[in-house]
Amino acid sequence: MENYNHVFHDLETKIIELVENSKSLEELTEIKNKYLSKKGEFSQLMSKIREAQDKKAFGEAFNNSRKNIEEAYTNKFNKLNEEKLNAQLKAEEIDISLPGNNYFRGSENPFYKVKKEIEDIFISMGYTVETGPEVDLDKYVFELLNIPKDHPARDMQDTLYIDNNLLLRSHTSSIQAHVMEEAHGKPIKIICPGKTYRRDDDDMTHSHQFAQVEGLVIDKNITLGDLKGTLELFAKKMFSKDAKVRFRSSYFPFTEPSVEVDVSCFACHGKGCPTCKGTGWIEILGAGMVHPNVLKMSGYDPNVYSGFAFGVGIERVAMLRYGIDDIRRFYQSDIRFIEEFNKKVED
Ligand code: PHE
Repeated sequence: MENYNHVFHDLETKIIELVENSKSLEELTEIKNKYLSKKGEFSQLMSKIREAQDKKAFGEAFNNSRKNIEEAYTNKFNKLNEEKLNAQLKAEEIDISLPGNNYFRGSENPFYKVKKEIEDIFISMGYTVETGPEVDLDKYVFELLNIPKDHPARDMQDTLYIDNNLLLRSHTSSIQAHVMEEAHGKPIKIICPGKTYRRDDDDMTHSHQFAQVEGLVIDKNITLGDLKGTLELFAKKMFSKDAKVRFRSSYFPFTEPSVEVDVSCFACHGKGCPTCKGTGWIEILGAGMVHPNVLKMSGYDPNVYSGFAFGVGIERVAMLRYGIDDIRRFYQSDIRFIEEFNKKVED
């Protein structure tokens, strides 16, 4: 068998040398085009096969030589490619020691923080969250809650009227009446957060607009004990692990009996301090057992069903929880005030 290696040897050596000495991928491509493409110098050598006696041996020598060149080419290509990538990575490296762009980080208004916390606490006890209209009919705000047109309790909850029959709700208890109407006599376990309005002069503790969370549970065998247990759990989660709850008798037309609810002072744990005005107790909300008239008006038989309701002011809870002195701060959008509440208060 003839040996044709000599036919390719010189050019092969030359090309491999060029390949190995090339400094860039571009240069490498040029070499490829010039020598290795179909019309390239190396490929042209194949045409000499016509003159060869042993065509098989010639072909083998050509293939061998081409393999050597391709190997050199691939090695060089990979090497240059890697170098290029490394250079690029280095050039695009981010200098983390440089000062970055400062973004202003917003803070949540403590009002919304507390609203969410109240919702979470009751959701964890199996309550669902309902809402209702802020502009509502007299029927839902007063009449279905056992406050007829001439009732003196209306004075305490004077509000803004759109017309004789349509008004801005003065409490979230109006949502009770809507929910009962829609439940058609079925058990209820809801809380309703929302804005409320009253004809009030604005001062440190009063605002013509504020917010409440209403709670309503109706079922068979619901007792005042259930109300107390529920509110005690709420107070423990919201204020302090060792919080206690105290009921004082009170009056609301839509509950009987009615109570004012105090929580043991979480600042002094009942000893007496400025937060609780020395009494050891802080008033937090109004509550009571749903009045039989209210049950009847909304289609519940008071001999079968009973229930409790409570209404808590969101701002009041937030003020106590965070030691905020003036209710108006919640609405003034003073960013310095809001930023203070990024930290979580631990009990
Ligand atoms: N609606 C009452 C208020 O605004 C609070 C309350 C709600 C009392 C539910 C008893 C039961 O003062």
